[in-house]
Amino acid sequence: MSLMRLDKYLSNSTSESRSKVKEILKAGRVKVNGNTVKDADTKIDSGNDLVELDGSAVIYEQFRYYMLNKPAGCVSAVKDKLSDTVIELLSKENTKDLFPVGRLDKDTEGLLLITNDGNLAHDLLSPNKHVDKVYEAILDNEIKEEDIEIIENGIDIGDEKPCLPAKVKKIDDKKVLITLHEGRYHQVKRMFAACGLKVEYLKRLSMGGVGLDEGLKPGEYRRLSEKETELLRKRG
Ligand code: URA
Repeated sequence: MSLMRLDKYLSNSTSESRSKVKEILKAGRVKVNGNTVKDADTKIDSGNDLVELDGSAVIYEQFRYYMLNKPAGCVSAVKDKLSDTVIELLSKENTKDLFPVGRLDKDTEGLLLITNDGNLAHDLLSPNKHVDKVYEAILDNEIKEEDIEIIENGIDIGDEKPCLPAKVKKIDDKKVLITLHEGRYHQVKRMFAACGLKVEYLKRLSMGGVGLDEGLKPGEYRRLSEKETELLRKRG
């Protein structure tokens, strides 16, 4: 049996911050096993106790998973002295313990997963798991067929080892989709730079089989569905 404070139970399971939860408790909106409880320090057994907020059961959720359509201009970090961070875009949520799963460059847009599940994040980023990531890139010039072949065979970008083979699909003269199975620093930009090309725009479209919800405008986010979370667990 694992016991936890009532305010932690509520802030983990709802989107409310710990301080908002204290107000909710003070207002007498929470019942535990049928009795109104106002003390934030009350210990809850998440497997057995029934916690209700405004008459509805609050199911305990240890882990939360979000997809953000990262806009250009903010950094993939929890805190930054100079720039806005991706976590600040979720400020309506209880952001304590949330962090981005890996990084996109400041000027890169698109799918960024955000969670408080350290194990899943670790697995998704592990170099041994080869989790697929698909990017849309707009280049400054048309890519040559021979360069696509080099990228698809594993291009050398000056690291200790060449890149793993990646898949390139030409959409039009300057737009390509590229699928990577690893995640090196500035990898897409460096792969195209090794072919003499500059990436002028970069957007991540999917990771581990979970696609960016195109209904999300840059800066918007939503919770992952059960199905999406399951997909990541299988890939991670
Ligand atoms: N590759 C890059 O070059 N930048 C990113 O943000 C992601 C992949």
